Amino acid sequence: MSRINSKELEILFEIFENLPREGPGDSESTRKAYSLLKNLPFNPKILDLGCGSGAQTVELAKISEGNIQALDINQEFLDRLNKKAKKEGVFERITTIKSSMLSMDFEDNIFDIIWAEGSIYIIGFEKGLKEIKQFLKPKGYVVVSELSWLRKDRPEEARNFFQAEYPAMQSIKQNIEVIDSLGYLLINHFILPKSAWWENYYIPLEKRVKFLRKKYEKASEINKLLDSTQKEIDLFRKYSDYYGYVFYIMQNK
Ligand SMILES: C[S@@+](CC[C@H](N)C(=O)[O-])C[C@H]1O[C@@H](n2cnc3c(N)ncnc32)[C@H](O)[C@@H]1O
Repeated sequence: MSRINSKELEILFEIFENLPREGPGDSESTRKAYSLLKNLPFNPKILDLGCGSGAQTVELAKISEGNIQALDINQEFLDRLNKKAKKEGVFERITTIKSSMLSMDFEDNIFDIIWAEGSIYIIGFEKGLKEIKQFLKPKGYVVVSELSWLRKDRPEEARNFFQAEYPAMQSIKQNIEVIDSLGYLLINHFILPKSAWWENYYIPLEKRVKFLRKKYEKASEINKLLDSTQKEIDLFRKYSDYYGYVFYIMQNK
């Protein structure tokens, strides 16, 4: 999550190419979060921010009967999303938007639901929740998953890693305070299961790291990035009790 240059970005795309997801998550958790939203219209209007290749977008389309605007900065991910949506028979209800969530210009009060799995950090948890509020209908819902500290006794190695990679990371309690202070009603929150980190994300990512190490044996830039990706995976292997993704489900008051 730290700053990277364009060459590194190119390499990162190769590392993450064709993974089932671009971050930890699973369909069961998407469905669980959606099931907590009550009194929705029959065809809710949904904005999926930082949708990636659309694992949760397609799931949302299947469970909601809604119309989804899926926004991401990366066209390759959106192309994969469209392909997946066609295969699953939900293409007609999904519109992809290649744009940055840092400069959104939607009309005010138009979405019943704004969804951001593993992506609200891009604007910042607090700033992001504040900015998207204007696009939400009264009583509309926001669902985000955000990397959060799960315990107070944080091992030094994990603390140092996130101090460099994601210094803005907060505890569940702190994030709930932010949600309250912004005038949302917290409906519920839950921790993403560890299996959702491994099955759709770290296991395929670790295979990709091994493959690319062989492919680029002598390239120092890629090895640096492969090392840091592997370090992140190893850290979760050791310290997954201490941090995790947390789903926060909230409603516009
Ligand atoms: C960790 S991934 C999460 C993807 C997906 N929601 C999931 O859970 O699999 C973050 C996504 O945000 C996208 N992204 C990064 N910067 C962005 C920006 N400024 N505006 C919109 N999307 C962005 C990336 O391309 C990537 O697809």
